Amino acid sequence: MLRAAVCVSGGGTNLQAILDAMDAGTLTNTEIIAVISNNPGAKALSRARGRGIPALVLSPKDYPDREAFDEAFTAKLCELAPDLIVLAGFLVKIPPQLVARFSNRIINIHPALIPSFCGVGYYGLKVHEKVLERGVKLTGATVHFVNEGMDEGPIIAQKAVQVEETDTPEILQRRVMEQAEWILLPRAMDDFANGRLRVVDGRVRRV
Ligand code: GAR
Repeated sequence: MLRAAVCVSGGGTNLQAILDAMDAGTLTNTEIIAVISNNPGAKALSRARGRGIPALVLSPKDYPDREAFDEAFTAKLCELAPDLIVLAGFLVKIPPQLVARFSNRIINIHPALIPSFCGVGYYGLKVHEKVLERGVKLTGATVHFVNEGMDEGPIIAQKAVQVEETDTPEILQRRVMEQAEWILLPRAMDDFANGRLRVVDGRVRRV
């Protein structure tokens, strides 16, 4: 059984999609051993506690500097020793030492079609604002392995979503979640948990 730790910063609708997929039997062979947030007010924490999943808060604000936070965050994940770390709307940069320890065992959901609308400054609603500003007609979501770059690791899955002329960032965000994120993330976890993903020469192959 895959032991997964899920990191969240806010609403936790992707965490909910993971839990719903486990209930529905479409995400198999997986146990959520902990939910970790940088934000003590994250709704995701109460979603986890409601299910009896240990919910922890580790915030950069509680440490003297970034280095101290990175050390503590890495130490906590190493202590938990998950098989997979899932960034489900986690808006904190992952410490490089954690990436090194969990090579190809950290996955992230990004609300755009990488390599568009990603990298520094592209997170959450901001992504959808930029999409609308640029006037692209198609956007979507991407699940990828996390490497030392920002949104640069091997891509596991993508799904396109239509942009409508009347969209606001909030409306578009909701459509991208419903039509792409909440489907892609649990499916990628199921693929990982059942040994269907291999990284070969920096690209993901399904086996
Ligand atoms: C999601 O749209 C996720 O793709 C995005 O934050 C939102 C979190 O929503 N993540 C990023 O922007 C990462 N770069 P949620 O808390 O309701 O799952």
